[in-house]
Formats: sequence, structure tokens, C-alpha cells
Amino acid sequence: MNSQDYNEEGRDLWNRKAEYWDEKFGDSGNLFHRQLVEPSLLKLLDLSAGEAVLDACCGNGVMSRRLAQQGARVTAIDFSEEMLRRARLRPLPDAGTLDYMLLDATDEAALLALGARRFDAVVCSMALMDIPEVAPLFRAAAALLRPAGRFVFATMHPAFNSNNPVFLHKKEDHDGEVRDIYALSLRYYLDMPPVLGAGMPGEPSAHYYFHRSFSELLGAAFTAGFVLDGMLEPAFAADVSAEDHSLSWRDFPQFPPVLSCRLRLG
Ligand SMILES: C[S@@+](CC[C@H](N)C(=O)[O-])C[C@H]1O[C@@H](n2cnc3c(N)ncnc32)[C@H](O)[C@@H]1O
Repeated sequence: MNSQDYNEEGRDLWNRKAEYWDEKFGDSGNLFHRQLVEPSLLKLLDLSAGEAVLDACCGNGVMSRRLAQQGARVTAIDFSEEMLRRARLRPLPDAGTLDYMLLDATDEAALLALGARRFDAVVCSMALMDIPEVAPLFRAAAALLRPAGRFVFATMHPAFNSNNPVFLHKKEDHDGEVRDIYALSLRYYLDMPPVLGAGMPGEPSAHYYFHRSFSELLGAAFTAGFVLDGMLEPAFAADVSAEDHSLSWRDFPQFPPVLSCRLRLG
């Protein structure tokens, strides 16, 4: 399959998955979003009321609403009609403004048509790894942003949360004390073909992920004229109670499943 085929298949899958995603995320997101993704994005963004923000690949609008709630004028785009239909059904925040638009984040011309130098910030929350080609979005963002603007994204961590890491749980007798050991096993990093992944527990269908090494991901941003000036690696706190151990990311407080970055035009 070429990039366009992957993108079309992705659109079809996201349309079919929209109901599941919308119910799981609701108005304010799941634990992963609330504890890791959202705080890191908001911190890097450092939003001021009245700023114009493009939320690229907005899903059911969980981040878009949060940004509007902080007083931003948000344009939220996604290529899934069904995801947007559901986003529009959710209550609008009582601050800022929020417009949803059907737009493919790989369509550079359509992105550019939003208007040069129109935005103070572009946000992309947990979607770059779902997009087969990220260069068009980075190039378009460089033109859409005002000179002091920033592109803030959160994505699956390239080193620890890509190409399906294996979660290991072992028990070790350490000087007479039995301990639980949680570790990750990784098989690939540099060689990252598109991989099918199950997504969140319970997702109705697997979809393709386009994981990228740090150099490939950030390289595409650098080529578009951005420099990196902020980075966070949020991980869960080491406070999982004994009955909560379910071999999820909460069992790995040493490993950040998310990479959040702030890019500025160089
Ligand atoms: C993992 S969800 C994240 C949704 C939202 N940003 C959030 O943080 O909750 C990925 C979203 O990206 C959208 N998406 C994937 N590829 C896209 C593309 N090429 N153009 C626009 N949206 C895309 C999907 O439809 C889906 O809503």
C-alpha cells in the first residue's frame, strides 16, 4: 500500500471507530489523556486567552474544548466525518470559540487554504503516529503560524511506545523478598515499517501506526523550518495499588509512553 492508500484506510477505520472512541473519551478524555497528554500539551503551549489555535486531528474534540475553555479561538480539524459529527454533539465550552472542520492533515493545499499567518499555535494531540506522511502538516504549519507561533504535539514515545513494545511482568526473589519486576522488551527502533496495533484496550479494530524514530519525526519538523524548544516525557506516577496491576502503562512509571514537544519557527 502507498501512503494515500494507508490514509484512506485510516479514514475508514476512524469513521468506524468513532463511536467507541467518543464513548471512551467522553467530554474530558480517559486517564491516559487527563494525566499525561493534556497537562504536557497545556504546559508547553502556555496559552493566552484570545489566541488563535489550530487543533489538528481533533477526534471527538476533547483537547479543542479544553483550549476553547481557556479562552482560545479554536479551529479543530479531522478527516473523519463521524468523529466530527460526535464532537459537534458535545457541549461547547462557555469561553473562547470552537469551529470544527472536515480536513485531511495530509492535504497540504487544504491546510494552507486556512490562511497564512492565521494561527498563534498548532496543536496535534496523539495523532502524528496515525498519519502516514507528516511532512505536509509540518510544512503547512510553518506557513499557517505567525512568526512567534508554536507547534505543540504529543505522540506515542518513539523510544518506548512504538512498534508494539512487549510488557513483561516477572517475579524475583531478591535476598529473600519476592518482588514484582515490570520491564519492557523492544525489538525494533530504527526499522519502523507501518505496524498494525490494537490501540486502547477494547478498541473494535486494529489500525496502522506509522511510528518514527526521533530523527525521522523531528527531522521532518526541522526540514519544514522548525526548531525544538520544549520537550516533556510524561509517565504515570508510581502509585498503582496492588489490585490495579493490569500490565498497562500504569505499571511502568520509569517509562514515558508519551513524547510532547514544542516547535518554533527558527
Ligand atoms: C488517536 S485519535 C486522537 C484524537 C484527539 N486529538 C485526542 O487527543 O483525543 C487520532 C485522530 O486523528 C484523526 N486523523 C488520523 N489521520 C488523519 C488525517 N490524515 N487527517 C485528519 N485527521 C486524521 C483520526 O480521525 C482521529 O480522530
